[in-house]
Amino acid sequence: MPRLFEPYSLKSLTLRNRAVLAPMTRVSAEPEGYANDLMRDYYGSFAKGGFGLLITEGLYTDTAFSQGYINQPGIATEQQRDCWVPVVQAVHDAGAGFIAQLMHGGAQTQGNLHHARHVGPSAVQPKGSQLSFYGGEGPYQVPSEMTDDEIAEAIAGFAQAAVHARDAGFDGVELHGANGYLLHEFMSAEFNQRTDRWGGDFKARLALPLTVIRAVRDAVGEGFVVGMRLSQQMVTDSDLKWEGGTEAAKLRMATLANAGLDYLHISEPDVAAPAFGEGPTLCELARAVGPVTLIGNGGIRTGEQAEQLLGQGTMDLVAVGKAALADHDWPRRVEHGEPLTPFDYAMFVPMATVTNELAWRQAHYPTPS
Ligand SMILES: Cc1cc2nc3c(=O)[nH]c(=O)nc-3n(C[C@H](O)[C@H](O)[C@H](O)COP(=O)(O)O)c2cc1C
Repeated sequence: MPRLFEPYSLKSLTLRNRAVLAPMTRVSAEPEGYANDLMRDYYGSFAKGGFGLLITEGLYTDTAFSQGYINQPGIATEQQRDCWVPVVQAVHDAGAGFIAQLMHGGAQTQGNLHHARHVGPSAVQPKGSQLSFYGGEGPYQVPSEMTDDEIAEAIAGFAQAAVHARDAGFDGVELHGANGYLLHEFMSAEFNQRTDRWGGDFKARLALPLTVIRAVRDAVGEGFVVGMRLSQQMVTDSDLKWEGGTEAAKLRMATLANAGLDYLHISEPDVAAPAFGEGPTLCELARAVGPVTLIGNGGIRTGEQAEQLLGQGTMDLVAVGKAALADHDWPRRVEHGEPLTPFDYAMFVPMATVTNELAWRQAHYPTPS
């Protein structure tokens, strides 16, 4: 696996290899959003297992409307920031880089300690049912359309959370512009029906993500890594495609990248598949936007797949989600040619908590006493 285990420089951060842990919400924090010892050991295990870079699950960014899930960790307050310090230390001690994913739940919010009311770009209810594996039940709320003050509060929240991430020792932040959460919703014609400066045509709907990128960059300075995750699909609509096809996709990604990002993290159900039914993949389109680092994610299970994608040159780093949950030491196993464990959704039953994963693991792969 010559490429997968080649080091990579992301700004001043040197990664020991190209294997990245994809962000995965585990709703395992304390009720107040504090990261805890369970999470320290959980993230530490991926670093010990050989990943070059870890991205946290989505962390909520303010004590207004950003929290999406009960027991989601936050990085909004100073206390929440301080709880991340031992987690970051454990990951760094085991030789991996660590990036905090910053997330505003938007209309897909299921549980927020701070507000019962949910907000989105417009009063558009997400389709389908809330995710039971994050503790949700029944249809989504109809969100209220965000006021100007609420938008300003959300932008300031991203900037403050990024400063907290830097001060907690993280190596960078990833702005969650994927999977149908707030920043994605603002880019969507369906969810963003505003007629003010935050809505309008395709380009006008990039206004909020662009403003957040610039606010975060101003807050953390040039030296800190700032990336953004993008997907076509939403949690509530897994078949969704961006409107406008390949040219609009390139324009979207170039506009965002040029606003001050160090990397784009592209997530597709199958990252090797054409973005729009035929033709180039989303990563191939992203490659055309310029010299920004590209992380690709979606459907990568084996070292051979990762090696092939890296070899094609359309991505610099590969992010692995479910295969990493099956084997926290996925890179080490791949490097040594050891067998991989099949991923099993049963580890998320009844909820996707780390405690349930540990119980599942003990039942299926008991550690000898
Ligand atoms: C339990 C679970 C939680 C997830 N939480 C997040 C999240 O917090 N942020 C995010 O951007 N993606 C999240 N995802 C999506 C993954 O990062 C990844 O895109 C998806 O699992 C597809 O990659 P894979 O085929 O390697 O698993 C989550 C996925 C799973 C299975």
